Amino acid sequence: MKAIVIEKPGEINIIDREIPNITTNQVLIKVKAAGICGSDVHIYHGKNAFATYPRVVGHEFVGEIVKIGKDVKGFQEGDRVAVDPVVSCGECYPCKIGRHNVCRNLQVMGVHMDGGFQEYVAVEYQQLYKLPENIPWEIAATVEPFSIGAQVAHRGRLSASDTVLICGAGPIGLIILQVAKMKGAKVAILDIVETRLKKAKELGADKTINGKEKNITEAINEFTNGEGVNLIYEATGNKNILQTCIRELPSPAGRIVVLGFTTDELSFRQVDIMSRELEIIGTRLNNHRFAEVIEWFKQNRVQQKEIITHTFPFEKAKNAFKLNDEKPEEVFKIILTF
Ligand SMILES: NC(=O)c1ccc[n+]([C@@H]2O[C@H](COP(=O)([O-])OP(=O)(O)OC[C@H]3O[C@@H](n4cnc5c(N)ncnc54)[C@H](O)[C@@H]3O)[C@@H](O)[C@H]2O)c1
Ligand SMILES: [Zn+2]
Ligand SMILES: [Zn+2]
Repeated sequence: MKAIVIEKPGEINIIDREIPNITTNQVLIKVKAAGICGSDVHIYHGKNAFATYPRVVGHEFVGEIVKIGKDVKGFQEGDRVAVDPVVSCGECYPCKIGRHNVCRNLQVMGVHMDGGFQEYVAVEYQQLYKLPENIPWEIAATVEPFSIGAQVAHRGRLSASDTVLICGAGPIGLIILQVAKMKGAKVAILDIVETRLKKAKELGADKTINGKEKNITEAINEFTNGEGVNLIYEATGNKNILQTCIRELPSPAGRIVVLGFTTDELSFRQVDIMSRELEIIGTRLNNHRFAEVIEWFKQNRVQQKEIITHTFPFEKAKNAFKLNDEKPEEVFKIILTF
């Protein structure tokens, strides 16, 4: 079988490998489609602090079960499945309190261990979620990024009464936007790439802010009549934006949910957090949110096609990564087909 391997930062190859063996608790999946995510690109560029090399990347993948271990329950050959890439130990404090996505011994497929950019992959059956027949593979490959949207909604306690600011209209920002509109919130979204803001407008953003053209604080004051936003999602990964979010943009009792993961330090004033009782909330991956997302897909509550701009056969993965780097105004999400 073929596998897409990032040998070391900057070097991507398609290699031949043995089809993996499965344990009694695993199934063998024939991968059908997989999305390229910002984190795959970061691993390619050597900018992901969690990754080790060589690595088969890909954590947004779906496929068909072709072989079953003898202890697997609830699945059979031929089932179409989405794979939750989060693997946890079950023993540590976060695991014990039901927060396995921040497990001390967290292993994410495609980051800490090999992922889905290969023709076959062995997976524990507890990571599987059945997909309905009528969802095409390319669409199904977006279950994992939408699970980020579900997770951040829970983390931020997103509700219809919130006025929300989403910083960043990349694939993740556009997914959070869809979830926030689905919940009935009023939403502003910030970016510096006009095509991404245009897409946000089409997806129902109440206000778009181009940070290159407009002062963010002024824009938010106009949007909220000076009240500030109740809930902020920082999905640019830019520390200066997060700093502005904490200092200048929230209403009293506001929440700021942090998605980006730079290692830069930032400065803010204690009193700005204290006096407004701000909450600064981290969010990582998803905590068993696949079933909820598949339900959204079944009920046509989200528009997955709006974020998929390109599809490539996996043999062209190099071209796909290149395009992703070179054309941020054209590329939102690329799906590889197998
Ligand atoms: N916490 C998690 O579980 C999790 C999961 C997925 C992604 N992420 C992170 O969320 C962020 C968004 O992911 P993505 O895939 O959409 O990434 P992306 O890079 O495609 O999108 C980021 C967007 O922010 C915009 N941006 C960058 N700097 C800006 C600035 N100074 N002002 C305004 N806009 C700016 C970019 O134009 C882009 O549209 C990334 O930082 C990613 O690492 C976190
Ligand atoms: Zn992803
Ligand atoms: Zn654990």
